[in-house]
Amino acid sequence: MYNPLKGRDLLSIHELSVEEVELILDLAAKLKSMQKSGIPHRWLEGKTLGMIFEKSSTRTRVSFEVGMSQLGGSALFLSNRDLQLGRGEPIKDTARVLSRYLDGIMIRTFGHDRIEEFAEYAEIPIINGLTDLLHPCQVLTDLLTIREHKGKDLRGLRMAYVGDGNNMANSYCSGAAKVGIYLTLATPATHKPDQKIFDYAVEDSIATGGSVKWTEDPIEAVKNADVVVTDTWASMGQESEHDERKKIFAPYQINSELMEHASPRAIVMHCLPAYRGEEITEEVFEQNADVIFDEAENRLHTQKAILALTMG
Ligand code: CP
Ligand code: NVA
Repeated sequence: MYNPLKGRDLLSIHELSVEEVELILDLAAKLKSMQKSGIPHRWLEGKTLGMIFEKSSTRTRVSFEVGMSQLGGSALFLSNRDLQLGRGEPIKDTARVLSRYLDGIMIRTFGHDRIEEFAEYAEIPIINGLTDLLHPCQVLTDLLTIREHKGKDLRGLRMAYVGDGNNMANSYCSGAAKVGIYLTLATPATHKPDQKIFDYAVEDSIATGGSVKWTEDPIEAVKNADVVVTDTWASMGQESEHDERKKIFAPYQINSELMEHASPRAIVMHCLPAYRGEEITEEVFEQNADVIFDEAENRLHTQKAILALTMG
């Protein structure tokens, strides 16, 4: 089978074609059912993934590590605290050294420019495990989860993102545009998604018949939505702004009052970790816990597809 992703980096959803997004989602679904039925799929036997973390993680770390093991390979956890990178060794040297030992690298870092520089100098696939700008593996996972709950054809599905115009919001713009979803984001005017990514997504959505819109009004975004998503109001690195952000985002909480405006069959998703009483109430979270934990599980299956395609 022709694999257009072989040897490629995965830094953003925008850089993937519509067909490549479908390829990842189809393979993720296949790998999920193979794993559930006990069908071996040791497609990365003998391969090693390096995982560089400059920020905390539960899901990303564990799902990538378990994913590599299920694919027959292994994963190395590389904390910034232990690497010479954390003491100032240049990214371009680290990238060239690690390319001589490893078959692929997943990176979670701050500025998106850091992963771009890493990818420029590395000779092996680089996978974005979250930057301040984007979280592509999570949003691809969310698309798989929406397929499972709402049907495979995502065209015309109405989705609302309510909260901070952060890395998740940005990646939702790109993801929705690739699969023909009608996405409306509600954020304060001071915390909009990245303008460049938003504009690209508006353009990309023309080809798939979807749309990407922004409003300041959460009710307008949620009106008749089939899927409602949110994320923390204070991302990693913004801890000192937490109290101020709680005030700014208070009108953007996903609660049962807001959900009355959505479709009666709407599902709520959250990439986790969730802060109950802030971006989502305990009640709405628990009503949607099955979907939210399917979403968490699907990190494993989606990332296995990404690893198999890029490193296979
Ligand atoms: N959703 C997500 O990326 O979780 P972690 O920060 O635990 O990896
Ligand atoms: N926006 C959040 C996502 C966490 C998975 C953050 O960057 O901290």
